[in-house]
Amino acid sequence: MTNVRNRVAVLHGVNFDVLEKRDASIYGGLALSELERQISDWAHEQGLEPIFFQTNSEGEFCEYLHRAADLADAVIVNAGAWTHYSRAIADALELTGLPAVEVHLSDVEARDDWRKLSVFDGLVAAKISGRGPDGYREALELLATKLEVTP
Ligand code: DQA
Repeated sequence: MTNVRNRVAVLHGVNFDVLEKRDASIYGGLALSELERQISDWAHEQGLEPIFFQTNSEGEFCEYLHRAADLADAVIVNAGAWTHYSRAIADALELTGLPAVEVHLSDVEARDDWRKLSVFDGLVAAKISGRGPDGYREALELLATKLEVTP
């Protein structure tokens, strides 16, 4: 199909490459590849096309966002700990001009105080946290509605 705006960049930040090694009581014990497979299935159910990216380099994350508007129509961002302090990534996300949803596997509001702050505040259509992988399904539904994509 042409002229369909249905591409969603799903970006994971620092430490997501070792998701399966992180505290399973907080992050569920699944590997990033398994999480991405679930997200991919949910995206396709919604008529969306996911594009995945993960890096442990803040600069690479910014550089990917610089290219994002050429690659995608919307963004799901889980920047991990960068969420709480990287103004550089917030500026780069704003620069995309794309609709974005922030997702966290864990409930960042119910953990350490420093996790309550998000640099994406005011830049994203929604912040979904504490719902585990299902949070990505909700983010995809929200973006499908925004992009007016139907299954
Ligand atoms: C996280 C929450 C962050 O506070 C933490 O630094 C992460 C993962 C989450 O998905 O719950 O790396 O973004």
